[in-house]
Amino acid sequence: YKVNEQLNKKISLFSGDITKLEIDAIANAANKTLLGSGGVDGAIHRGAGPLLRKECGTLNGCETGEAKITGAYGLPAKYVIHTVGANTLRNCYYNCLHTPTKNHLRTVASPCISTGVYGYPPDQAVEVALRTVREYLEQNHEKLDRVIFCAFLKSDKELYETMLPAYFPQ
Ligand code: APR
Repeated sequence: YKVNEQLNKKISLFSGDITKLEIDAIANAANKTLLGSGGVDGAIHRGAGPLLRKECGTLNGCETGEAKITGAYGLPAKYVIHTVGANTLRNCYYNCLHTPTKNHLRTVASPCISTGVYGYPPDQAVEVALRTVREYLEQNHEKLDRVIFCAFLKSDKELYETMLPAYFPQ
């Protein structure tokens, strides 16, 4: 990829808990029921409180690779984009960008979708995340101000630090 300072300015790496971010939208690595369980999904539901589960219960679940938007209730973010990972990781990342832009939201953070309970190899997942975000921003740079890669694990943060320069060269 070519150097593009306009795009570089829109990318951040955050290492920590996604539920603490005060931004327009955070992505959630959910399952098809959207009814919350462990991992980042559990953390998001704990932080948001029972109204999130109530809204999720009205959505009739979510297919793998798709995304659904809800309020964020007790969280500092404004909205949660629930996506269901597995082998459709590119679609997940695409929809975690496209759903916010369709809703006129400008800042979004994503955890390392599918790399926990679902067991997707983290190095490959980071490449899919970086490639999908780079390609989305090339087409839609005027629609988003910031995309934050949220790495909860030190090992994922290190993978991002290693691979970011290939997708967003300085
Ligand atoms: N903030 C950011 N990232 C987090 C947090 C948090 N608070 N807690 C965990 N993570 C990270 C994990 O370290 C992992 O890198 O989220 C990533 C995704 O892991 P999982 O939450 O296990 O998600 P996934 O692999 O997509 O599995 C989804 O797990 O909890 C269930 O309901 C969920 O059944 C679904 C499955």
